[in-house]
Amino acid sequence: MAVEKVMVIGAGQMGAGIAQVFAQSGFQVKLNDIAEENLQKGLATIEKHLSRNVEKGRMDEADKTNTLNNLETTTSLNDANDCDLVIEAVVENMDVKTKVFQQLDQITPKHAILASNTSSLPITDIAAVTERPEQVIGMHFMNPVPVMKLVEVIRAIQTTDETYQTIAETAEKLNKTAVEVNDYPGFVSNRVLMPMINEAVYTVFEGVAEPEAIDEVMKLGMNHPMGPLRLADFIGLDTCLSIMEILHEGFGDSKYRPCPLLRKYVNAGWLGKKSGRGFYVYE
Ligand code: CAA
Ligand code: NAD
Repeated sequence: MAVEKVMVIGAGQMGAGIAQVFAQSGFQVKLNDIAEENLQKGLATIEKHLSRNVEKGRMDEADKTNTLNNLETTTSLNDANDCDLVIEAVVENMDVKTKVFQQLDQITPKHAILASNTSSLPITDIAAVTERPEQVIGMHFMNPVPVMKLVEVIRAIQTTDETYQTIAETAEKLNKTAVEVNDYPGFVSNRVLMPMINEAVYTVFEGVAEPEAIDEVMKLGMNHPMGPLRLADFIGLDTCLSIMEILHEGFGDSKYRPCPLLRKYVNAGWLGKKSGRGFYVYE
């Protein structure tokens, strides 16, 4: 199936990035959010990154104009009625996501593929609330989307080969590398990454070292581009906590218990970079 028209749902840090890479690659993109204000913020972020690309000689003014012309914004899900592919990137909450998928199932054409950018929620369960479970799949982009090469493609138990193939080919058109994984809690990316971040939070909690020292150890000692605590702030501490809860519940293994300090920060509203404070303070 040829994908031409795409809707991205949620104009937060992931949705805006996903909409940008699709529009840059020539797809017709509708960016949707419940809040007009978030759509405007998302659009402003995209424009800033495109201008940076022009400044750096990675694209010219015409590419920037074409990209922006490929993009429209909407607060109505009904505008997905002519889309071939929808990528959902709303908050990491199962109730919110299943409601969105049930509505999309009614609105979108029968051939449309419904994908989720969820970090850890079960794609099989999301697929099961629709009448087209074979056309539901995980299309997990990494943050920051315009920079990171990976798309982790998660097959629900119901996903067909044809759906997988269309998504893998679409990822290639975005100049990304698709890696196929099966649907288990945290998939591969967050099953491996998030326990490391959680362990870094435990090292703060237990007074082993200050956040700066922990990050320095991992940057200089392991060549990570960012230390785990700065990365946690960058991802969002609420998202990190949700992922640890999914791992803990999904495997029933105490090795995945979220650190109490992580929960305390989230309860305090210290969500990382997006709220101005997490393990670090942001101006
Ligand atoms: N959007 C678009 N471009 C961005 C960006 C953003 N949010 N942040 C940085 N960039 C670009 C910059 O434009 C810059 O290029 P130019 O200077 O040429 O314009 C380039 O990336 C490098 O940026 P910086 O020099 O500011 O900083 P850096 O060298 O530290 O790189 C980074 C930034 C790419 C984010 C790097 O620190 C990095 O790779 N960090 C780790 C990211 C990571 O692990 N991501 C996965 C998170 S987990 C996930 O996504 C899954 C999940 O479900 C939670
Ligand atoms: P975010 O909080 O930055 O953005 C979420 C956006 O969704 C907000 O603008 C919100 O208004 C909107 N929204 C909420 N409910 C909606 C609805 N019913 N319809 C339309 N829009 C709605 O979150 P984010 O960090 O962009 O994460 C989005 C998804 O991507 C989550 O599932 C998250 O787990 C996943 N993810 C996050 C990262 C990361 O590093 N932050 C990486 C990969 C995947």
